[in-house]
Amino acid sequence: MNDLFSKFDALIQQRETLLAGGVEDPFNLVMERVLSPTQAVCNGRDTILLGTYNYMGMTFDPDVIAAGKKALDDFGSGTTGSRVLNGTYQGHREVEAALCEFYAMDHAMVFSTGYQANLGIISTIAGKGDYIILDIDSHASIWDACKMGDAEVVPFKHNDLEAMERRLKRVPEGAGILVVLEGVYSMLGDVAPLAEMVAIAKKHGAMVLVDEAHSMGFIGEHGRGVAEDQGVLDQVDFVIGTFSKSVGTVGGFCVSNHPKFEIMRLVCRPYVFTASLPPSVVATAATSIRKLMHGSNKRAHLWENSRRLHGGLQALGFQLGTQEPQSAIVAVIMPNLERGAAMWEALLKEGLYVNLARPPATPANMTLLRCSLCAEHSAEQVEEILGMFERAGKAVGII
Ligand SMILES: Cc1ncc(COP(=O)(O)O)c(C=O)c1O
Repeated sequence: MNDLFSKFDALIQQRETLLAGGVEDPFNLVMERVLSPTQAVCNGRDTILLGTYNYMGMTFDPDVIAAGKKALDDFGSGTTGSRVLNGTYQGHREVEAALCEFYAMDHAMVFSTGYQANLGIISTIAGKGDYIILDIDSHASIWDACKMGDAEVVPFKHNDLEAMERRLKRVPEGAGILVVLEGVYSMLGDVAPLAEMVAIAKKHGAMVLVDEAHSMGFIGEHGRGVAEDQGVLDQVDFVIGTFSKSVGTVGGFCVSNHPKFEIMRLVCRPYVFTASLPPSVVATAATSIRKLMHGSNKRAHLWENSRRLHGGLQALGFQLGTQEPQSAIVAVIMPNLERGAAMWEALLKEGLYVNLARPPATPANMTLLRCSLCAEHSAEQVEEILGMFERAGKAVGII
């Protein structure tokens, strides 16, 4: 028998070597208690959370929690069915209405995760003979969508306008084109030059899809994302987003003004062939989205946090993913996986949780300590975090 698991041997070996050094397993942390959007008890310690996607701190919002509890009482724990059969409840319609209002768009379609939203929309709209032109640093769900569909897939160098245009010029005359971009790239926390990219895409007759997973709720005057911030949202054909970050629950969506958009509900397999979200989840999402429409004070505070953390880490001598703060993600570049894991553990012992990110999730084989800020972090917590980074960085010899 040829053991189908032998392909994982190198990874198993790398993991065993890492853990043999006595380091706590960075990919097996348990949150024993969650006290607030910014605090938890992890591996027995009181810990500040700086590695969640809870950008707007909505997970403990009293209105959000009340809406979830009420839906659980009124509609039960799950729908036990697909959106196109018995799985569309009043709550699914309400959250789609909330999304249409949030983005000021005509159509919204909710999926069970953001991963499935990308998988479904991209693989369905770009078919045989069409071209997908995408940034090489695109999220795994975008790449998996490309694999699942039948279109020609042409990546270009990250955020490189010229490379993107060169690819567009090579598309055969008359072929359908979908340009796929992200607002914020989640590994380094950098923002795409969407204004220029969307203009180039439109010049070449392409449709544009932007994944705003890491910008929704935070970036842009109304929190609609980077496309709003750069003034091109009205030219974007499809916005993909998730409820698992700023919205504070789970689920994914696509919003669009395309007049034929509703047909997607019948032809998009990751929408049709899976159970719909539980009533409590769509109720919490709808409440959270409606509150995010009025989140400008929180957005301003989150920007302050981002500037404070980015500036403080830079002053301490850490190498960061961006020269200036561009989002709620501040990525600290580590020399390699071993030192990254040691630094991650030293921070955990200080009482700070960040994400350890490594290839293949990261670009250019980098190991990163990814810090994601929350609008509920206080200025004092950010100062405390900087003190933890300083002590851990010196102990591990990173600074
Ligand atoms: C850019 C991007 N798109 C999509 C997703 C998938 O979102 P979800 O967690 O809802 O599946 C993520 C999640 O990390 C993401 O970073």
